[in-house]
Amino acid sequence: MTKFAELSIDGKTYQLPVVVGSENEVAVDISNLRAESGIITLDTGYKNTGSTKSAITFLDGEKGILRYRGYPIEGLASKSSFLEVAYLLIYGELPKEDELVKFRQDIKNNQMCHEDTKKIMEGFPSNSHPMGILSSLATSLTAFFPESLDPNRSWDKVKLTIIRLLAKIPTMVAWSYTKQKGLPANYPDNTLKYVDNFLKMMFSQPTAPFEVDPVISDAMEKIFILHADHEQNCSTSTVRFVGSSQASLYASIAAGINALWGPLHGGANQAVIEMLTGIEEDGGDIDKYIAKAKDKDDPFRLMGFGHRVYKNFDPRARILKKNADAILDKLGIQDKMLEIAKKLEEHALEDDYFVERKLYPNVDFYSGIIMNAIGIPTNMFPVMFSIGRLPGWIAQWKEMRENKEPIGRPRQIYVGANERAYVDFKNR
Ligand code: ACO
Repeated sequence: MTKFAELSIDGKTYQLPVVVGSENEVAVDISNLRAESGIITLDTGYKNTGSTKSAITFLDGEKGILRYRGYPIEGLASKSSFLEVAYLLIYGELPKEDELVKFRQDIKNNQMCHEDTKKIMEGFPSNSHPMGILSSLATSLTAFFPESLDPNRSWDKVKLTIIRLLAKIPTMVAWSYTKQKGLPANYPDNTLKYVDNFLKMMFSQPTAPFEVDPVISDAMEKIFILHADHEQNCSTSTVRFVGSSQASLYASIAAGINALWGPLHGGANQAVIEMLTGIEEDGGDIDKYIAKAKDKDDPFRLMGFGHRVYKNFDPRARILKKNADAILDKLGIQDKMLEIAKKLEEHALEDDYFVERKLYPNVDFYSGIIMNAIGIPTNMFPVMFSIGRLPGWIAQWKEMRENKEPIGRPRQIYVGANERAYVDFKNR
């Protein structure tokens, strides 16, 4: 039986249906409120607004729970492969063996990019940020596969678009890296598994044979799994929003890449390393930087700290912290960054400012350290995040289209000037 919440305003009462999710999350449905009363709700930054009902990812920020399609992140990170998780997110169930074999093979068959992709890349200045290159190359897929622009094509055809994205984005990422380094672009190697092929495209050079280090491959696989979805965050909401206008999946993903780029979202992992390097070069004075982060007149924030949703701990950060130790150990690396990061965490978690505001390390705090240790340049971190988040973006776009959600179009409260007469130049 539907429950109702009541809203009283100016002597009138409105009944608002209460919606309860499968984990007993409660929402008040205000979708008819404006039609009935002329009133809208206001929530800048959508801090308390549910934009959709979704069956993909559950997270409880108070308890530090994250589950993809009901499966806890801890189990997926330790037992699953990235492509298995991608299949789970996109199609709703863990794949049977034959389904996974086909999924992998379909991806392998589509990893090559059109040679003209390189011409597009040539147009970019050599100091271009790889996120800018990647979002442009993702958009260029609309030109190589223009049938994707048809919003009414069959789901079978959409399936191929999904495969192409999962297959080609890593190739594009690797090519943006070799372009940055001035090295020749490497072609995909279909004999290798997904992550190994990606690492080979990134790091192999014609002058020497290349062997994928299983420690590095495993570390990257885990990072991708931990980033694969995170419900209605900034970039995912962007993908759904752009897709709601029936723009192509490629264009929607390109928009998601741009949304992820910012330092408050996927760009934070790059910002963490830049911050840690800065602290180290400045003599390693942790308390000075804690004080800066607390100073409201100083724009400095502890990067990799705080989260809109996690208010106790970020389960992804916990897994990565453990992994960082193990990986650096296996690679025989003594990392100053990790030492500074751990000290910073220790000091911050003892400080009232961070405790009161429930600010804890987020996923970006340790992912950057691992990627730094395995030789990925800092400005490539956000593009690594893009590869990881790709299945989530696709799954969320697919769910939005399957549910035939309407075009996203928020309202506003206008606070500007009231009507006034146009003033000629001479009278201004
Ligand atoms: N360092 C110092 N103070 C902080 C930090 C931080 N990293 N994060 C939040 N605060 C403070 C704010 O100044 C604010 O203080 P006030 O109440 O005295 O004004 C309070 O904590 C609440 O912060 P908000 O910015 O209102 O929280 P919001 O939910 O809007 O922002 C965000 C969350 C963007 C993640 C924020 O914590 C932040 O900027 N963190 C650093 C960037 C970062 O690591 N981003 C990655 C997020 S994870 C991801 O996208 C994958």
